Amino acid sequence: MPTSPRRRASDDSSRSNTAKGYPVAPPFAVDLLAWYDRLGIELPWRGERDPYRVWLSEIMLQQTQVETVKPYFARFLAAFPTVEALAAAPLDAVLKLWEGLGYYSRARNLHRAAQVVAQTGVFPSTPDALLNLPGVGRYTAGAIASIAFGVRAPVLDGNVIRVYVRLLDLADEVTLPATQEYLWEIAEAWLPADRPGDYNQAVMDLGRLVCTPRSPDCAACPLRRHCLAHAAGTQGERPIKAAKAAAPHYDVTAGLIRGDTGDLLIAQRPLEGLLGGLWEFPGGKVEPGETLPECLRRELREELGIEVAVGEFFVKVKHAFTHFRITLHAFECRHIAGEPQRLGVHAFAWVREDDLDAYSFGKADRQVIAALKARRNMLF
Ligand code: ADE
Repeated sequence: MPTSPRRRASDDSSRSNTAKGYPVAPPFAVDLLAWYDRLGIELPWRGERDPYRVWLSEIMLQQTQVETVKPYFARFLAAFPTVEALAAAPLDAVLKLWEGLGYYSRARNLHRAAQVVAQTGVFPSTPDALLNLPGVGRYTAGAIASIAFGVRAPVLDGNVIRVYVRLLDLADEVTLPATQEYLWEIAEAWLPADRPGDYNQAVMDLGRLVCTPRSPDCAACPLRRHCLAHAAGTQGERPIKAAKAAAPHYDVTAGLIRGDTGDLLIAQRPLEGLLGGLWEFPGGKVEPGETLPECLRRELREELGIEVAVGEFFVKVKHAFTHFRITLHAFECRHIAGEPQRLGVHAFAWVREDDLDAYSFGKADRQVIAALKARRNMLF
């Protein structure tokens, strides 16, 4: 019997041992690699051993679907073919190529990490050394070390977790730190010495393509005969996740602030924090009891030191971030007084409406720009 306190729906002690408190690897690595070789899934970064390209793909793939990443990966490499080229680029150019991909701290960290690598002249090759790079966590360190350098280092992401939880028929709640730690131990124990990078990618492919969250295709699964959830018929109930709290909602204002020439005033957000380094139509979160125009006037005074006349409502945009949702209310505004200052913003610029595309904006502000363009097309 396993010494692990883990609960399994079907307790099959023949698949477990007590040596380290977790089951030894079922003999499935061979089956999995044969499936991986047979399918030969084509991805732009597949077969890649250049650590820069492996690293870039792994950062882009965090929280992001493969199909979304493909065009971004190609454009990014065309602009910055080497880690030195990325290190030498201005942050604005990096953010522009990341525009729309979300989780912009990834781009800022990638840029900082490229500068570290370019300065030292070597790409770190072990998980411990990789963990020192900004933006590289346990998953990414394992992925780069195993895929680019052939180091026997495990990975654990959402797809891998689902595969392992089903193989084990694990009934524990997977977001708990103790469960995560247990699954890292499993990932480490089950990782073969031979072809660890291919093995890691094969588990991820299996999770993405076959062992999917809903309606897993067990008939097509090369690991079916090793899978305890399949044997127990519980694959649809695994993994078990705690119910998520509803995401809070905030109303946010944004000003389309025009000066005497008709140019628009835009601001760059502070480099750290949410949407750091991206440009926006200035404004901010509505305080309790405040009207939308009151909010705009206060925010613009606090962040830029300017006075505006708030005019007509222009457009309303809804957007969901990871942990909250917003409704962005954009208003036409006229600049009346005060030279803009960088009180709460990283930078500001007066730009022609036609030149907005040269700046990187988040998705909600992009929708405001799309509405501006639609209005111009109707007028001309
Ligand atoms: N998801 C994240 N990285 C991956 C990789 N290298 N292969 C397959 N799926 C992935």
